[in-house]
Amino acid sequence: MSKPSNIEAGRGAGASVLEIRNPSDLDEVVGTYACATVAVVEEAFAAARQAQQGWWSFTLEQRSNVLESISQLIFARQADLAKIMSAEGGKTVPDALAEILRAGNIARFFAGEALRLGGEKLGSVRPGVDVEIAREPVGAVGLITPWNFPIAVPLWKIAPALAFGNAIIWKPSEKVPGTSTAIAEIMADAGLPAGVFNMVIGSGPDIGAAVIEHADAISFTGSSATGRKIAVRCAERLIRVQLEMGGKNPLVVLDDAEFQSAVNTAVNGAFFQAGQRCTASSRLIVTEGIHDRFAAALAEQVQGLRVGNAAESTTQIGPVIDQLQFDKVSRYIEIGRQQSGDILAGGGALTLPSRGWYIAPTLFSGTTNDQRINREEVFGPVASIIRVKDYDEALFVANQTEYGLSAGICTTSSKLAKHFQTHVDAGMTMLNLPTAGVDYHVPFGGRKHSSYGPREQGQYAVEFYTTVKTSYLMV
Ligand code: UN1
Repeated sequence: MSKPSNIEAGRGAGASVLEIRNPSDLDEVVGTYACATVAVVEEAFAAARQAQQGWWSFTLEQRSNVLESISQLIFARQADLAKIMSAEGGKTVPDALAEILRAGNIARFFAGEALRLGGEKLGSVRPGVDVEIAREPVGAVGLITPWNFPIAVPLWKIAPALAFGNAIIWKPSEKVPGTSTAIAEIMADAGLPAGVFNMVIGSGPDIGAAVIEHADAISFTGSSATGRKIAVRCAERLIRVQLEMGGKNPLVVLDDAEFQSAVNTAVNGAFFQAGQRCTASSRLIVTEGIHDRFAAALAEQVQGLRVGNAAESTTQIGPVIDQLQFDKVSRYIEIGRQQSGDILAGGGALTLPSRGWYIAPTLFSGTTNDQRINREEVFGPVASIIRVKDYDEALFVANQTEYGLSAGICTTSSKLAKHFQTHVDAGMTMLNLPTAGVDYHVPFGGRKHSSYGPREQGQYAVEFYTTVKTSYLMV
Protein backbone atom coordinates (compact mmCIF):
# COMPACT_ATOMS: atom_id res chain seq x y z
CA MET A 1 0.00 0.00 0.00
CA SER A 2 1.14 3.52 -0.57
CA LYS A 3 0.73 4.75 2.99
CA PRO A 4 0.99 2.97 6.32
CA SER A 5 -2.48 2.27 7.68
CA ASN A 6 -1.88 3.88 11.04
CA ILE A 7 -1.30 7.25 9.41
CA GLU A 8 -4.65 6.94 7.72
CA ALA A 9 -6.22 5.78 10.95
CA GLY A 10 -5.00 8.95 12.61
CA ARG A 11 -7.28 10.96 10.39
CA GLY A 12 -10.32 8.95 11.39
CA ALA A 13 -12.46 9.72 14.39
CA GLY A 14 -11.95 7.66 17.51
CA ALA A 15 -8.38 6.53 16.83
CA SER A 16 -6.34 6.70 20.03
CA VAL A 17 -3.00 8.45 20.12
CA LEU A 18 0.24 7.18 21.59
CA GLU A 19 2.68 9.58 23.18
CA ILE A 20 6.15 8.06 23.30
CA ARG A 21 8.72 9.35 25.78
CA ASN A 22 12.42 8.68 25.66
CA PRO A 23 13.21 6.02 28.28
CA SER A 24 16.67 7.59 28.66
CA ASP A 25 15.14 11.01 29.36
CA LEU A 26 11.50 11.02 30.34
CA ASP A 27 11.21 14.78 29.83
CA GLU A 28 11.59 14.26 26.08
CA VAL A 29 8.53 13.40 24.03
CA VAL A 30 9.85 11.45 21.04
CA GLY A 31 6.66 11.54 19.05
CA THR A 32 2.93 11.04 18.97
CA TYR A 33 1.38 8.40 16.78
CA ALA A 34 -2.13 7.31 15.95
CA CYS A 35 -3.31 3.80 16.68
CA ALA A 36 -5.24 1.80 14.15
CA THR A 37 -8.81 0.78 14.84
CA VAL A 38 -10.45 -2.58 14.29
CA ALA A 39 -12.13 -1.11 11.19
CA VAL A 40 -8.69 -0.28 9.78
CA VAL A 41 -7.55 -3.85 10.40
CA GLU A 42 -10.56 -5.09 8.44
CA GLU A 43 -9.87 -2.67 5.59
CA ALA A 44 -6.24 -3.74 5.57
CA PHE A 45 -7.21 -7.40 5.20
CA ALA A 46 -9.61 -6.55 2.38
CA ALA A 47 -6.81 -4.67 0.59
CA ALA A 48 -4.33 -7.47 1.27
CA ARG A 49 -6.62 -10.16 -0.10
CA GLN A 50 -7.16 -8.15 -3.26
CA ALA A 51 -3.47 -7.51 -3.76
CA GLN A 52 -1.99 -10.88 -2.85
CA GLN A 53 -2.57 -12.80 -6.08
CA GLY A 54 -1.16 -9.91 -8.10
CA TRP A 55 1.99 -9.95 -5.97
CA TRP A 56 2.31 -13.72 -6.40
CA SER A 57 2.01 -13.29 -10.15
CA PHE A 58 5.02 -10.96 -10.23
CA THR A 59 8.04 -12.72 -11.71
CA LEU A 60 10.59 -14.14 -9.29
CA GLU A 61 12.98 -11.44 -10.37
CA GLN A 62 10.48 -8.63 -9.72
CA ARG A 63 9.82 -9.92 -6.20
CA SER A 64 13.54 -10.35 -5.63
CA ASN A 65 14.18 -6.78 -6.80
CA VAL A 66 11.65 -5.37 -4.34
CA LEU A 67 13.37 -7.22 -1.51
CA GLU A 68 16.72 -5.91 -2.71
CA SER A 69 15.28 -2.36 -2.65
CA ILE A 70 13.98 -2.89 0.89
CA SER A 71 17.47 -3.97 1.90
CA GLN A 72 19.10 -0.95 0.24
CA LEU A 73 16.58 1.47 1.76
CA ILE A 74 17.25 0.03 5.22
CA PHE A 75 21.01 0.47 4.75
CA ALA A 76 20.51 4.00 3.40
CA ARG A 77 18.41 5.07 6.38
CA GLN A 78 20.59 3.47 9.04
CA ALA A 79 21.65 6.70 10.75
CA ASP A 80 18.13 8.07 11.13
CA LEU A 81 16.68 4.66 12.06
CA ALA A 82 19.32 4.24 14.78
CA LYS A 83 18.38 7.60 16.26
CA ILE A 84 14.71 6.70 16.37
CA MET A 85 15.38 3.25 17.84
CA SER A 86 17.63 4.69 20.49
CA ALA A 87 15.23 7.50 21.42
CA GLU A 88 12.07 5.44 21.65
CA GLY A 89 13.49 2.09 22.79
CA GLY A 90 16.56 2.95 24.85
CA LYS A 91 18.90 0.92 22.65
CA THR A 92 22.47 2.16 22.44
CA VAL A 93 23.32 3.52 19.00
CA PRO A 94 25.89 0.77 18.20
CA ASP A 95 23.34 -1.90 19.18
CA ALA A 96 20.69 -0.19 17.05
CA LEU A 97 23.06 0.04 14.07
CA ALA A 98 23.99 -3.64 14.38
CA GLU A 99 20.32 -4.54 14.42
CA ILE A 100 19.56 -2.35 11.39
CA LEU A 101 22.36 -3.98 9.42
CA ARG A 102 21.01 -7.35 10.40
CA ALA A 103 17.56 -6.34 9.13
CA GLY A 104 18.98 -5.10 5.82
CA ASN A 105 20.95 -8.32 5.42
CA ILE A 106 17.85 -10.40 6.11
CA ALA A 107 16.00 -8.58 3.30
CA ARG A 108 18.96 -9.19 0.99
CA PHE A 109 19.11 -12.88 1.95
CA PHE A 110 15.43 -13.28 1.06
CA ALA A 111 15.93 -11.40 -2.21
CA GLY A 112 18.00 -14.49 -3.08
CA GLU A 113 15.53 -16.94 -1.61
CA ALA A 114 12.72 -15.42 -3.71
CA LEU A 115 14.63 -16.60 -6.79
CA ARG A 116 15.32 -20.04 -5.37
CA LEU A 117 11.75 -21.02 -4.48
CA GLY A 118 11.59 -24.50 -5.94
CA GLY A 119 9.49 -27.61 -6.13
CA GLU A 120 9.85 -31.27 -6.96
CA LYS A 121 8.95 -33.44 -9.86
CA LEU A 122 8.46 -37.14 -9.16
CA GLY A 123 7.26 -40.18 -10.96
CA SER A 124 3.94 -41.69 -10.01
CA VAL A 125 3.19 -45.21 -8.86
CA ARG A 126 0.68 -45.20 -11.74
CA PRO A 127 1.77 -45.49 -15.37
CA GLY A 128 1.59 -42.38 -17.51
CA VAL A 129 1.21 -40.05 -14.54
CA ASP A 130 3.62 -37.36 -13.30
CA VAL A 131 3.61 -35.80 -9.87
CA GLU A 132 4.66 -32.21 -9.18
CA ILE A 133 5.05 -30.69 -5.76
CA ALA A 134 4.95 -26.90 -5.63
CA ARG A 135 5.05 -24.33 -2.88
CA GLU A 136 2.47 -21.53 -2.93
CA PRO A 137 1.92 -18.55 -0.65
CA VAL A 138 -0.31 -18.97 2.40
CA GLY A 139 -2.28 -15.77 1.68
CA ALA A 140 -2.71 -12.74 3.95
CA VAL A 141 -0.44 -13.39 6.91
CA GLY A 142 -0.59 -11.61 10.27
CA LEU A 143 2.78 -10.70 11.80
CA ILE A 144 2.89 -9.63 15.44
CA THR A 145 6.26 -8.36 16.65
CA PRO A 146 7.81 -7.13 19.93
CA TRP A 147 9.58 -3.93 20.92
CA ASN A 148 12.98 -5.32 21.89
CA PHE A 149 14.19 -5.93 18.33
CA PRO A 150 11.95 -3.44 16.54
CA ILE A 151 13.50 -3.86 13.09
CA ALA A 152 15.29 -7.26 12.98
CA VAL A 153 12.36 -9.37 14.19
CA PRO A 154 9.86 -7.62 11.86
CA LEU A 155 12.20 -8.10 8.91
CA TRP A 156 12.75 -11.78 9.61
CA LYS A 157 9.00 -12.21 9.24
CA ILE A 158 8.24 -9.59 6.57
CA ALA A 159 11.06 -10.58 4.19
CA PRO A 160 10.21 -14.29 3.81
CA ALA A 161 6.48 -13.50 3.74
CA LEU A 162 7.07 -11.19 0.77
CA ALA A 163 9.68 -13.37 -0.93
CA PHE A 164 7.20 -16.23 -1.19
CA GLY A 165 4.27 -14.15 -2.42
CA ASN A 166 2.17 -13.43 0.67
CA ALA A 167 0.41 -10.20 1.60
CA ILE A 168 1.07 -8.85 5.08
CA ILE A 169 -0.82 -7.29 7.95
CA TRP A 170 1.84 -6.29 10.43
CA LYS A 171 1.09 -5.33 14.02
CA PRO A 172 4.26 -4.00 15.60
CA SER A 173 4.49 -3.31 19.30
CA GLU A 174 2.80 -0.02 20.17
CA LYS A 175 5.93 0.84 22.19
CA VAL A 176 8.03 1.41 19.04
CA PRO A 177 5.76 3.28 16.61
CA GLY A 178 8.55 5.53 15.28
CA THR A 179 10.73 2.63 14.10
CA SER A 180 7.65 0.85 12.77
CA THR A 181 6.47 3.89 10.83
CA ALA A 182 9.93 4.21 9.26
CA ILE A 183 9.77 0.54 8.22
CA ALA A 184 6.32 1.11 6.68
CA GLU A 185 7.75 4.08 4.73
CA ILE A 186 10.57 1.87 3.46
CA MET A 187 8.04 -0.72 2.29
CA ALA A 188 6.06 1.98 0.50
CA ASP A 189 9.23 3.30 -1.20
CA ALA A 190 10.47 -0.15 -2.24
CA GLY A 191 7.90 -0.58 -4.98
CA LEU A 192 5.43 -2.98 -3.39
CA PRO A 193 2.03 -2.90 -5.07
CA ALA A 194 -0.72 -1.21 -3.03
CA GLY A 195 -2.28 -3.52 -0.43
CA VAL A 196 0.57 -6.04 -0.19
CA PHE A 197 2.03 -4.55 2.98
CA ASN A 198 -0.15 -3.07 5.72
CA MET A 199 0.82 -1.86 9.14
CA VAL A 200 -1.64 -1.55 12.02
CA ILE A 201 -0.24 -0.12 15.23
CA GLY A 202 -2.12 -0.82 18.42
CA SER A 203 -2.29 -2.96 21.52
CA GLY A 204 -2.48 -6.75 21.52
CA PRO A 205 -5.91 -7.18 23.10
CA ASP A 206 -7.71 -5.09 20.46
CA ILE A 207 -5.61 -4.72 17.29
CA GLY A 208 -3.57 -7.92 17.71
CA ALA A 209 -6.76 -9.88 18.40
CA ALA A 210 -8.43 -8.42 15.29
CA VAL A 211 -5.44 -9.45 13.18
CA ILE A 212 -5.69 -13.00 14.55
CA GLU A 213 -9.41 -13.11 13.66
CA HIS A 214 -8.76 -12.38 9.97
CA ALA A 215 -5.35 -13.77 9.08
CA ASP A 216 -4.57 -16.93 7.12
CA ALA A 217 -1.56 -17.53 9.36
CA ILE A 218 0.00 -15.84 12.40
CA SER A 219 3.67 -15.43 13.18
CA PHE A 220 4.19 -14.01 16.66
CA THR A 221 7.19 -13.10 18.78
CA GLY A 222 6.50 -12.18 22.39
CA SER A 223 5.73 -13.71 25.76
CA SER A 224 4.87 -17.36 26.30
CA ALA A 225 1.62 -16.41 28.07
CA THR A 226 0.37 -14.41 25.06
CA GLY A 227 1.72 -17.00 22.64
CA ARG A 228 -0.29 -19.75 24.30
CA LYS A 229 -3.52 -17.73 23.93
CA ILE A 230 -2.73 -17.01 20.30
CA ALA A 231 -2.06 -20.71 19.62
CA VAL A 232 -5.45 -21.65 21.11
CA ARG A 233 -7.31 -19.14 18.97
CA CYS A 234 -5.39 -20.12 15.83
CA ALA A 235 -6.21 -23.77 16.51
CA GLU A 236 -9.90 -22.85 16.82
CA ARG A 237 -9.70 -20.99 13.54
CA LEU A 238 -7.63 -23.83 12.02
CA ILE A 239 -4.94 -21.47 10.78
CA ARG A 240 -1.23 -22.07 11.02
CA VAL A 241 0.76 -20.42 13.75
CA GLN A 242 4.41 -19.82 14.49
CA LEU A 243 5.42 -18.61 17.94
CA GLU A 244 8.74 -17.36 19.28
CA MET A 245 8.46 -16.78 23.00
CA GLY A 246 10.44 -16.59 26.19
CA GLY A 247 13.69 -18.01 27.39
CA LYS A 248 15.53 -18.75 30.61
CA ASN A 249 18.77 -19.49 28.90
CA PRO A 250 21.57 -21.26 30.74
CA LEU A 251 25.22 -20.41 30.30
CA VAL A 252 27.32 -23.21 31.80
CA VAL A 253 30.84 -22.28 32.87
CA LEU A 254 33.12 -25.24 33.59
CA ASP A 255 36.33 -25.32 35.62
CA ASP A 256 38.42 -25.66 32.46
CA ALA A 257 36.90 -22.62 30.70
CA GLU A 258 39.16 -19.95 29.25
CA PHE A 259 38.65 -17.61 32.18
CA GLN A 260 38.46 -14.08 30.80
CA SER A 261 36.54 -15.13 27.73
CA ALA A 262 33.95 -16.86 29.95
CA VAL A 263 33.52 -13.70 32.03
CA ASN A 264 33.11 -11.56 28.90
CA THR A 265 30.65 -14.06 27.45
CA ALA A 266 28.51 -13.93 30.59
CA VAL A 267 28.55 -10.12 30.73
CA ASN A 268 27.55 -9.82 27.09
CA GLY A 269 24.88 -12.53 27.19
CA ALA A 270 23.29 -11.48 30.44
CA PHE A 271 23.46 -7.69 30.43
CA PHE A 272 23.87 -6.22 26.96
CA GLN A 273 20.72 -4.59 25.58
CA ALA A 274 19.74 -4.28 29.25
CA GLY A 275 18.97 -8.01 29.25
CA GLN A 276 15.88 -7.40 27.13
CA ARG A 277 16.46 -10.35 24.84
CA CYS A 278 14.63 -13.65 24.81
CA THR A 279 18.06 -15.17 24.24
CA ALA A 280 19.67 -13.49 27.30
CA SER A 281 21.89 -15.67 29.51
CA SER A 282 19.93 -15.28 32.72
CA ARG A 283 21.11 -18.45 34.48
CA LEU A 284 24.87 -18.70 34.94
CA ILE A 285 25.58 -22.28 35.97
CA VAL A 286 29.12 -22.49 37.32
CA THR A 287 31.10 -25.52 38.53
CA GLU A 288 32.64 -25.30 41.96
CA GLY A 289 36.33 -25.26 41.02
CA ILE A 290 35.98 -21.97 39.18
CA HIS A 291 32.94 -20.60 40.99
CA ASP A 292 34.39 -18.14 43.49
CA ARG A 293 36.98 -16.67 41.15
CA PHE A 294 34.42 -16.41 38.34
CA ALA A 295 31.77 -14.80 40.56
CA ALA A 296 34.26 -12.21 41.84
CA ALA A 297 35.56 -11.32 38.38
CA LEU A 298 32.08 -11.17 36.91
CA ALA A 299 30.83 -8.97 39.76
CA GLU A 300 33.69 -6.56 39.21
CA GLN A 301 33.03 -6.33 35.49
CA VAL A 302 29.27 -5.91 35.98
CA GLN A 303 29.81 -3.13 38.52
CA GLY A 304 31.98 -1.37 35.95
CA LEU A 305 29.38 -1.39 33.17
CA ARG A 306 28.50 2.12 32.11
CA VAL A 307 24.73 2.55 32.38
CA GLY A 308 23.38 5.73 30.89
CA ASN A 309 21.53 7.65 28.25
CA ALA A 310 21.36 5.39 25.20
CA ALA A 311 22.28 8.28 22.90
CA GLU A 312 25.67 8.85 24.57
CA SER A 313 28.63 7.13 22.98
CA THR A 314 30.12 6.03 26.32
CA THR A 315 26.97 4.14 27.35
CA GLN A 316 27.15 0.36 27.37
CA ILE A 317 23.77 -0.38 28.94
CA GLY A 318 20.74 1.81 28.34
CA PRO A 319 17.52 1.98 30.35
CA VAL A 320 14.73 -0.58 30.16
CA ILE A 321 12.00 0.50 27.79
CA ASP A 322 9.20 1.80 30.00
CA GLN A 323 7.65 1.91 33.41
CA LEU A 324 5.91 -1.43 33.00
CA GLN A 325 9.23 -3.12 32.33
CA PHE A 326 10.96 -1.12 35.06
CA ASP A 327 8.35 -2.18 37.62
CA LYS A 328 8.46 -5.81 36.53
CA VAL A 329 12.25 -6.01 36.69
CA SER A 330 12.30 -4.18 40.04
CA ARG A 331 9.79 -6.71 41.42
CA TYR A 332 12.00 -9.60 40.32
CA ILE A 333 15.03 -8.00 41.95
CA GLU A 334 13.00 -7.83 45.17
CA ILE A 335 11.99 -11.48 44.82
CA GLY A 336 15.64 -12.41 44.17
CA ARG A 337 16.76 -10.41 47.18
CA GLN A 338 14.29 -12.21 49.44
CA GLN A 339 15.07 -15.66 48.09
CA SER A 340 18.80 -15.58 47.51
CA GLY A 341 20.16 -12.82 49.66
CA ASP A 342 23.51 -12.43 47.87
CA ILE A 343 23.71 -9.49 45.52
CA LEU A 344 27.16 -9.18 43.97
CA ALA A 345 26.32 -6.16 41.78
CA GLY A 346 23.49 -3.70 41.27
CA GLY A 347 20.28 -4.34 43.15
CA GLY A 348 17.78 -1.77 41.92
CA ALA A 349 17.07 1.52 40.23
CA LEU A 350 19.83 3.95 39.30
CA THR A 351 19.43 7.70 39.55
CA LEU A 352 21.25 9.49 36.75
CA PRO A 353 21.33 13.11 35.54
CA SER A 354 18.54 12.45 33.06
CA ARG A 355 15.33 10.99 34.44
CA GLY A 356 14.92 7.53 32.87
CA TRP A 357 14.08 3.89 33.47
CA TYR A 358 17.56 2.95 34.62
CA ILE A 359 18.28 -0.25 36.48
CA ALA A 360 21.73 -1.18 37.70
CA PRO A 361 22.90 -4.46 36.16
CA THR A 362 22.16 -6.88 38.95
CA LEU A 363 23.98 -10.12 39.72
CA PHE A 364 22.76 -12.62 42.28
CA SER A 365 24.82 -15.46 43.65
CA GLY A 366 24.03 -18.43 45.86
CA THR A 367 20.77 -19.03 44.01
CA THR A 368 19.10 -22.35 43.31
CA ASN A 369 17.40 -23.35 40.12
CA ASP A 370 13.97 -23.69 41.73
CA GLN A 371 13.82 -20.02 42.78
CA ARG A 372 11.51 -17.75 40.83
CA ILE A 373 14.31 -15.61 39.39
CA ASN A 374 15.69 -18.79 37.83
CA ARG A 375 12.36 -20.07 36.55
CA GLU A 376 10.58 -17.01 35.19
CA GLU A 377 11.72 -14.71 32.42
CA VAL A 378 12.76 -11.35 33.91
CA PHE A 379 13.64 -9.58 30.64
CA GLY A 380 15.94 -7.05 32.24
CA PRO A 381 19.58 -6.59 33.32
CA VAL A 382 19.42 -9.34 35.94
CA ALA A 383 21.29 -12.64 36.09
CA SER A 384 21.96 -15.21 38.76
CA ILE A 385 24.75 -17.62 39.47
CA ILE A 386 23.87 -21.21 40.31
CA ARG A 387 26.74 -23.19 41.79
CA VAL A 388 26.99 -26.84 40.76
CA LYS A 389 29.37 -29.70 41.55
CA ASP A 390 30.35 -30.82 38.07
CA TYR A 391 29.41 -30.97 34.40
CA ASP A 392 26.71 -33.62 34.92
CA GLU A 393 24.89 -31.48 37.45
CA ALA A 394 25.35 -28.41 35.22
CA LEU A 395 23.68 -30.17 32.30
CA PHE A 396 20.87 -31.40 34.54
CA VAL A 397 20.23 -27.89 35.89
CA ALA A 398 20.47 -26.36 32.40
CA ASN A 399 17.64 -28.63 31.26
CA GLN A 400 15.46 -28.12 34.35
CA THR A 401 13.37 -25.31 32.88
CA GLU A 402 10.15 -24.97 30.98
CA TYR A 403 12.01 -23.02 28.30
CA GLY A 404 14.44 -24.26 25.65
CA LEU A 405 15.57 -21.43 23.41
CA SER A 406 19.34 -21.02 23.60
CA ALA A 407 21.94 -22.74 25.80
CA GLY A 408 25.63 -21.99 26.08
CA ILE A 409 28.72 -23.60 27.54
CA CYS A 410 32.19 -22.22 28.19
CA THR A 411 34.76 -25.00 28.21
CA THR A 412 38.02 -26.05 26.58
CA SER A 413 36.98 -29.71 26.61
CA SER A 414 35.79 -30.71 23.18
CA LYS A 415 34.36 -33.93 24.65
CA LEU A 416 32.11 -32.09 27.10
CA ALA A 417 31.26 -29.42 24.55
CA LYS A 418 30.06 -32.13 22.17
CA HIS A 419 28.12 -33.89 24.93
CA PHE A 420 26.40 -30.61 25.86
CA GLN A 421 25.58 -29.82 22.24
CA THR A 422 23.91 -33.22 21.91
CA HIS A 423 22.10 -33.42 25.24
CA VAL A 424 21.01 -29.91 26.08
CA ASP A 425 17.30 -29.47 25.38
CA ALA A 426 17.36 -26.20 23.44
CA GLY A 427 16.82 -25.07 19.87
CA MET A 428 20.17 -23.29 19.71
CA THR A 429 23.46 -24.12 21.44
CA MET A 430 26.51 -21.92 21.80
CA LEU A 431 30.09 -22.99 22.50
CA ASN A 432 32.23 -20.26 24.10
CA LEU A 433 29.72 -17.68 22.87
CA PRO A 434 26.89 -15.76 24.55
CA THR A 435 23.44 -17.35 24.32
CA ALA A 436 22.25 -14.14 22.61
CA GLY A 437 23.34 -12.79 19.25
CA VAL A 438 22.51 -14.94 16.25
CA ASP A 439 23.25 -15.05 12.53
CA TYR A 440 20.58 -14.02 10.06
CA HIS A 441 20.86 -16.84 7.52
CA VAL A 442 20.22 -19.90 9.69
CA PRO A 443 17.16 -21.11 11.58
CA PHE A 444 16.22 -19.40 14.84
CA GLY A 445 14.02 -21.03 17.42
CA GLY A 446 13.67 -23.14 20.50
CA ARG A 447 11.89 -25.99 22.20
CA LYS A 448 9.35 -26.50 24.98
CA HIS A 449 7.67 -23.19 25.93
CA SER A 450 10.10 -21.10 23.89
CA SER A 451 8.84 -21.85 20.41
CA TYR A 452 5.96 -23.49 18.62
CA GLY A 453 5.55 -24.29 14.98
CA PRO A 454 8.07 -24.22 12.15
CA ARG A 455 11.40 -22.42 12.47
CA GLU A 456 12.01 -18.81 11.47
CA GLN A 457 14.89 -17.49 9.38
CA GLY A 458 17.22 -18.95 6.82
CA GLN A 459 16.00 -21.47 4.30
CA TYR A 460 13.74 -22.98 6.95
CA ALA A 461 11.41 -19.95 6.77
CA VAL A 462 9.87 -21.38 3.60
CA GLU A 463 7.99 -23.97 5.69
CA PHE A 464 5.79 -21.42 7.42
CA TYR A 465 5.31 -18.94 4.59
CA THR A 466 4.33 -21.42 1.91
CA THR A 467 1.82 -24.20 1.58
CA VAL A 468 2.44 -27.32 -0.46
CA LYS A 469 0.42 -28.34 -3.50
CA THR A 470 0.75 -31.83 -4.97
CA SER A 471 -0.36 -32.09 -8.62
CA TYR A 472 -1.00 -35.33 -10.53
CA LEU A 473 -0.69 -35.01 -14.28
CA MET A 474 -1.86 -37.62 -16.75
CA VAL A 475 0.42 -37.04 -19.70
C1 UN1 B 1 19.45 -12.34 19.25
O1 UN1 B 1 19.74 -12.77 20.36
O2 UN1 B 1 20.34 -11.96 18.45
O3 UN1 B 1 13.06 -11.25 20.94
C2 UN1 B 1 18.08 -12.24 18.74
C3 UN1 B 1 14.17 -11.72 21.04
C4 UN1 B 1 14.57 -12.72 19.99
C5 UN1 B 1 15.67 -12.24 19.14
C6 UN1 B 1 17.01 -12.46 19.75
N1 UN1 B 1 13.42 -13.02 19.20
O4 UN1 B 1 14.89 -11.41 21.95
